[in-house]
Amino acid sequence: MSIDETAVPVLAIDGPGGAGKGTISRLVAERLGWHLLDSGALYRLTALAAGKYGVALDDEAGLARVARSLDVVFVAEGEGTRVLLEGAEATTTIRTEQVGDAASRVAALPAVREALLQRQRDFRQPPGLVADGRDMGTVVFADAPLKIFLTASADERARRRQLQLREAGVDASLSSLLKEIQARDARDMQRSVAPLKPAGDAITLDTTRLTIPEVVDRLTELLTERGLASAI
Ligand code: C5P
Repeated sequence: MSIDETAVPVLAIDGPGGAGKGTISRLVAERLGWHLLDSGALYRLTALAAGKYGVALDDEAGLARVARSLDVVFVAEGEGTRVLLEGAEATTTIRTEQVGDAASRVAALPAVREALLQRQRDFRQPPGLVADGRDMGTVVFADAPLKIFLTASADERARRRQLQLREAGVDASLSSLLKEIQARDARDMQRSVAPLKPAGDAITLDTTRLTIPEVVDRLTELLTERGLASAI
């Protein structure tokens, strides 16, 4: 029997890079026992696969073909998710600034977004989905019963990115990270298709001065208030 996907609750979390969406989404999904969609990973994987096959970052039809035929597996593991592209480890490779930059270029192309649309919607499975991205509340899950726009100052996001990279053993200067973040914000907000912006019915949460547990608690409260999750 097929399920009515629209009856499955979705928590849509959008916002700029480095606002904490990835960590927060994972923790909320874990707390609720819901599925998790890291939509940015799909754009990153498209960029990575394009590099592998020598498809240029402005070849829209070629990139859409790559996006449509992505052979990707997400495996929940300990604190994170392992990502396999065509069976090969891609977990850390997709997190580099270089792949992030290429991802935001391919993500500006309508045919690529269209090619990834159904794949993202397929993640909507009972008992619920936490969807992390840029257009979760505006396009992919426009009917989501709770939409959050998670943001933080660019300085704070650069600082967080630096810490994250340092933990992964990568050294990067704050000023270069800030520049990259600002360039990526501008590209994500100014593109003509699915630009980064809060959905009309989204709640904006500025995490600059909030800790991760505070944000997770706030989101869980909002879900509970709306009857989407029992008090946890
Ligand atoms: O979230 P993350 O940094 O992994 O996303 C990488 C890039 O993919 C973003 O800069 C953005 O351009 C693009 N993206 C998007 N729509 C999404 C998720 C990510 O355009 N839903």
